[in-house]
Amino acid sequence: MSSKKKKKQRWFVPAGLAPTEMDILIMEWEAKGKLVPTRNLIKTKEQIEGIRKAGVLNTSVLDTVAEKIREGMSTTEIDRIVYDYTTSHGGIPAPLNFEGYPNSCCTSINDVVCHGIPCEDDILEEGDIINVDCTTILGGYYADASRMFIIGKTTPERQRLVDVAWECLKIGEQVCSKPYVFVGDLGNAIARHAHKNGYTVVRDLCGHGVGIAFHEEPDVEHYGKKGSGMLLVPGMTFTIEPMINAGDWSVCGDEDDETEWIVLTEDGEDSAQWEHTYLMTENGVEVITN
Ligand code: MF3
Ligand code: CO
Ligand code: CO
Repeated sequence: MSSKKKKKQRWFVPAGLAPTEMDILIMEWEAKGKLVPTRNLIKTKEQIEGIRKAGVLNTSVLDTVAEKIREGMSTTEIDRIVYDYTTSHGGIPAPLNFEGYPNSCCTSINDVVCHGIPCEDDILEEGDIINVDCTTILGGYYADASRMFIIGKTTPERQRLVDVAWECLKIGEQVCSKPYVFVGDLGNAIARHAHKNGYTVVRDLCGHGVGIAFHEEPDVEHYGKKGSGMLLVPGMTFTIEPMINAGDWSVCGDEDDETEWIVLTEDGEDSAQWEHTYLMTENGVEVITN
């Protein structure tokens, strides 16, 4: 018996309809063995409108954090700003009670890679670099973005890490300046840029489809081979969110963290991350969380 299993077909032309150009392109890639989306990952006009609105609110949440963040503030205060602003504008902070997550946003300082939990005892100090990650639900639709903030003046090393992490996001975005690219294409470009700058890319966590749910297909890895991963086609909404480490890419949990959410660099070196939600269109990605 042959050990080759036939992969289940993922892309279908709806019954009674002639295949569109998009159908044909996707089915050609699938026939070549590439990972293609399923149709439910292609958002309708109405869904896209809803996700855009969630994106507008998400951006104003982060803008509000940007206005108010300062030295001496606790990360719990940031969490309160996110909760109050989001809920008073008709939204819901997606992290709150998500799989046991206790707060409305993630606040990841210095060697915290991601999922840092807001806490009264975590007081922002001059020179800290902090990622604030907010996911907003509005009318049932999700938008997810994070930014780095530098508290006062930091070291040239930390500044460079924050800058290169931003460049990595922008490079991923540039690879997506046309549709029908693969997740591996953008991951490959991001990792190259990180490595060229002496940094590493976290491998245990990735970007993701988003919009109807918090985390959807595809996984958006920020490293890898060109042509690997899922084909990105018009109508897909997903995040790019590279986590860039100053030292080694390996991460670990925090012994004292009972929630087991917090992710740290294993070597204690700094980490930086920026995130946007994107819509793939016929002309490449549009930033939903700008
Ligand atoms: N916003 C994070 C992401 O970019 C996920 C956080 S999950 C939470 O995917 F529960 F910690 F909020
Ligand atoms: Co996020
Ligand atoms: Co995300």
